[in-house]
Amino acid sequence: MNTQTRQKIYLSPPEVSESDIAAVTAAMKSGWVAPVGPAIRSFEEAFEGYMGGGHAVALSSGTAALHLSLQLSGVGPGDEVFCSTLTFAASANAIIYCGARPVFIDSDEKSWNMDPNVLADALQKRAREGRLPAAVELVHAYGQSADIDPILELCHKYGIPLIEDAAEAIGATYKGKAAGGFGNFGTFSFNGNKLITTSGGGMLWTEHKDDAERARYLATQARLPDRGHLHEETGYNYRLSNLLAALGESQLSRLQERIEMRHEVFKAYVDGLADIPGVSFMPEVEYGQSTRWLSCLLIDETQSAVTRNQLIDRLQENNIESRPIWRPLHKQPVFDGSEFYGSGVSERLAGHGISLPSGGEIIGDDQSYIIASICNAFGL
Ligand SMILES: Cc1ncc(COP(=O)(O)O)c(C=O)c1O
Repeated sequence: MNTQTRQKIYLSPPEVSESDIAAVTAAMKSGWVAPVGPAIRSFEEAFEGYMGGGHAVALSSGTAALHLSLQLSGVGPGDEVFCSTLTFAASANAIIYCGARPVFIDSDEKSWNMDPNVLADALQKRAREGRLPAAVELVHAYGQSADIDPILELCHKYGIPLIEDAAEAIGATYKGKAAGGFGNFGTFSFNGNKLITTSGGGMLWTEHKDDAERARYLATQARLPDRGHLHEETGYNYRLSNLLAALGESQLSRLQERIEMRHEVFKAYVDGLADIPGVSFMPEVEYGQSTRWLSCLLIDETQSAVTRNQLIDRLQENNIESRPIWRPLHKQPVFDGSEFYGSGVSERLAGHGISLPSGGEIIGDDQSYIIASICNAFGL
């Protein structure tokens, strides 16, 4: 294998088409080079179409969408929010922005997402103690929906708002409906590594028009409609640029195509690697469709020739980017001392899991090279 002449293969690079470039160029030529303009509402409408209705608010990031969702759910200083632990730090950072504390909930084995049984036990215990959280933040990690119904049922039972962090799961479904469309709020990210991108950006989705309007107002520095600049409360500069909205709408039109490509990538990994002793893949749940945003696998070191970390190193030597599964947030120094409910499933996944390059552009030669590199690392 000639590693010198190969370009680095990234985990999940953006895929940009000629129509994306044309859309951004048209937005620039329109003169709306600002965080206002017709492309923003047009992107929101297209997103509402994707969600099957409701109200979408385009924002500068998925983190901004989470922050506003938590605030609109009434989360404030001194509150606690139950949050999935197997996720990116942004999920819990937004809780901290509200002056609240995250309490982390373990994953289940079958979805890698929040375990509804652990949540049930935790809420029951907290109800007995009179210490219910102000919200539940449910993450749909790695392009796969969590088991939403039992979690929603628990939230209804205890009267707690549910926020779905679907940053990694645009295109994922739960019982035929888009993940992110079940709770009080759904949040999405269009960061450069996501299935569709605006380079940086996010979307807040809600069924309620009033909440969408308030989110838009808070994202615009809480500026009141007045001839002067009138502000009665603190807001944020969380709006998405009109140029990026044009890119987002163009990208959204190819969402299904992107999902199919990620599935093709995943399938090629399964075909090429499933026979390696100690290797298993992130399961796909029966209740929905995963997008396979990232192709993830587990390495059982008791059966395999190499450890997860050795594999990452070997791939890096071959100019291939790979990453460990998210370090659970209850194990992150920044959230040290946070409460955690669970039995350690997320820690096991994080200790043995790896994400492989998953972008559609690797289909063919690059992916054959990755698979050959992995087999080589295993001595095959
Ligand atoms: C699970 C999760 N939540 C939130 C975010 C934050 O999104 P953004 O980067 O758009 O702020 C990300 C990643 O980017 C994420 O993976």
